[in-house]
Amino acid sequence: MAFTAGERKRAEELMARYPHAKSALLPLLHMAQERDGWVTSQAMEDISELLGVTPTIVLGTCSFYTMFKREPVGRLIVSVCTNLACLVNGGEDLLGELQLRYADDDDVLVEEVECIANCDRAPTLQVNYDFHGPLTAEAAADVVEQYKSGALTARTISGTRPGASVGSDS
Ligand code: FES
Repeated sequence: MAFTAGERKRAEELMARYPHAKSALLPLLHMAQERDGWVTSQAMEDISELLGVTPTIVLGTCSFYTMFKREPVGRLIVSVCTNLACLVNGGEDLLGELQLRYADDDDVLVEEVECIANCDRAPTLQVNYDFHGPLTAEAAADVVEQYKSGALTARTISGTRPGASVGSDS
């Protein structure tokens, strides 16, 4: 879906914050991801046109940063760390058990990540960029279920707090 007039206006506001419009590439990718739940090819084309850069530059940036998803991932991203502190505290088992549990759940993506700087709480994970840990697989699944039920409020998959917009200070 192409950007609407309102979205183009918001995009122009974001671009106006920078001396060079193309510096707004990351906020615009976040804006597109907030809208669609992932960054579609159409959104990349729109951003390319808005910024006057080639589609290759937009794709290159989008594919470099793991926070940008180029296919639908559902509403919750569970990022499980398997770096050293988490590894020796059961991070790989946690990852494996969660991947198995949510393999058929379109609403939940379980992904492996490098150190997320929460080593003293190993094994640890994030749900839409909010930290939880240390956790057993059972406790982790309980946390995910709380997000699914609405008992816990998740950020968007770009990490924006509910009610805030991309580029706002909240
Ligand atoms: S090693 Fe897992 S958070 Fe640092």
